[in-house]
Amino acid sequence: MSTSPHYKVIGGHFEIDDDLIKGPPRGDISAWGGHGQYELFATGRCALASILLAYSLKFGRNAKILIPEYSCLTTTLQAIRFANCSYDFYAGSTQGMKAHELVAKADSQVSHILLVNYFGLFRNDGVAAMIKHVRPDIKVILDCVSDLYFSIDQTVLPLGVDYIFTSHRKFLPVPDGAILRKADCALEVRCAELENTISSRILAAGRSKALAHHASDSNAMNERDRYGLMLYQSAIADLAKASPGMSPSRKSNEILIRLDAQAIRKKRRENYEFLASELSDIEGITFLKSKLEASNVPLCIPVLVEGDRRDQLRKFLQSHEVFCPVHWAIPVEVRSMITADTNALYDNQLSLVIDQRYGPRQLVKMVECIHSFMKYL
Ligand SMILES: Cc1ncc(COP(=O)(O)O)c(C=O)c1O
Repeated sequence: MSTSPHYKVIGGHFEIDDDLIKGPPRGDISAWGGHGQYELFATGRCALASILLAYSLKFGRNAKILIPEYSCLTTTLQAIRFANCSYDFYAGSTQGMKAHELVAKADSQVSHILLVNYFGLFRNDGVAAMIKHVRPDIKVILDCVSDLYFSIDQTVLPLGVDYIFTSHRKFLPVPDGAILRKADCALEVRCAELENTISSRILAAGRSKALAHHASDSNAMNERDRYGLMLYQSAIADLAKASPGMSPSRKSNEILIRLDAQAIRKKRRENYEFLASELSDIEGITFLKSKLEASNVPLCIPVLVEGDRRDQLRKFLQSHEVFCPVHWAIPVEVRSMITADTNALYDNQLSLVIDQRYGPRQLVKMVECIHSFMKYL
């Protein structure tokens, strides 16, 4: 794993190339959560759609699922629509999910509840077990797309959880791939069979795409970067449309078994602690969680930017080649269906980058940029 001081641009998709497949494997898929009964899919949404489709096939009626207001709704709703399910929201976010409120919201039609672990930082300990206690008929799905290491560390699924799914490319330099784990009593989910050829295009985009992806001025790109970017973006768009039965690419698995899960864990935690401490006295930014727990492996540092300045700060950082994502874009039609608090969360949240590519040099640059933005406003 490189934590190269050469990174000038901070953030964005991982660079992926054939160098990652050099050398002998370190282990097998179990290092990335392949424990017990599991299936491999191309994406997290393929896994979710497959769970819901398995229910329709078995019972001859479409599923109804309760989902939290705060999540990656674009992709979640895409999977739900694919499976032709109905859904309803509950007021779930990083502030926790209350099992009794969830159960009260679940009418007799509800067949599934989706819980979401957030950012490797916020879990739902005990909620699934409490739901199951009152409504054993409801299947509980735990979305660990932004909490990959939770799934890795749980050799047995938590009590009451029927399914856990992940998506590797949010944490790792792989083109695709997701693991769906299931409890013994959960319904069989059809394994992914369609061959995945999308990843070869992502790999072909090679090293060029990372820099190109971030260049705000496309005139500044050279021919190779521009081509890489085009290839990358069209492949990602096709991955987003992948049908539920699509498997992860062979290349993804080859990369996965060569990555060092423990080194990545350590680096992410160190970066989180370093950046959080450097920004501890900053005004205008609130940390959703300032101290890591021993079991946390963060996706990012999620913060709230006060005073409607999130988009301004993000733009300012971009102008200094620091690309911080927002989790998540909210579909317009959802705005009026959810609480004001969750709307505010969508509007103010920003994810500071702390992934394994970076070290103190890049983090200090980020701190300096944030300080200068706050100072001159
Ligand atoms: C919380 C969460 N769930 C599900 C997904 C969908 O994952 P995928 O892009 O692998 O389909 C995402 C994507 O970012 C996510 O953030």
